[in-house]
Amino acid sequence: MINPKTEKMLNKQLNDELYSSYFYLAMSAYFENNAFEGFAKWMRTQSEEERVHAMKIYDYIHRVGGKVKLTAIKTPQTEWANPLAVFKDTYKHECDVTKSINTIVEMAVNLKDHATNNFMQWFISEQVEEEATAQRLLDQLKFIGNDKQGLFMLDREMGQRTVNN
Ligand code: FEO
Repeated sequence: MINPKTEKMLNKQLNDELYSSYFYLAMSAYFENNAFEGFAKWMRTQSEEERVHAMKIYDYIHRVGGKVKLTAIKTPQTEWANPLAVFKDTYKHECDVTKSINTIVEMAVNLKDHATNNFMQWFISEQVEEEATAQRLLDQLKFIGNDKQGLFMLDREMGQRTVNN
C-alpha cells in the first residue's frame, strides 16, 4: 500500500506534468501565431511528451494501490517577446521540475519506499536530458540573436522533431 505522503507528492507531480504539457502547448500556440512552424511543432511534441510523463505517474499511483486525485491545472502564460524568451522560460521550468523530482526521491529514500525511489529514477534521467536540451536551444538562440536567417534555419531544423518517449 502506498504511503499517504508519497501519494500526495505523486499527485502533485502528476498535476505539475499536466501543467507542463499545457505550458508547452501554450508556447506551441504562440509560435503558430507568429509563423514559426518548426518551433510550434517542437513545442507540440514536447507537450505530448509531458502528457506521457503525467500518465506514467497516473499508472504508477494505481499500480501501487493509491488514488489519483486530479485537480485544476493553472492557466499558462500565452505571450512572449520572442523565441529566446520562450526558451529562457523552458529552461527555468525544467530546472523547477528537476527540483520537484529530486524532492520526491529524497522523500522516498527517507520513507524507505524503494519502489517509488526506483520508479522515479526514470524521471531523474529524463530531467538530465530535458535540462540539457533546453540549455542547448537557449544557447543557440542567444548565439543567433536577431539574425532572421539564423532563426529561419533553426525553425526548420526544429520542425524535424518526432516523439521519442
Ligand atoms: Fe516532465 Fe519536461 O519534465
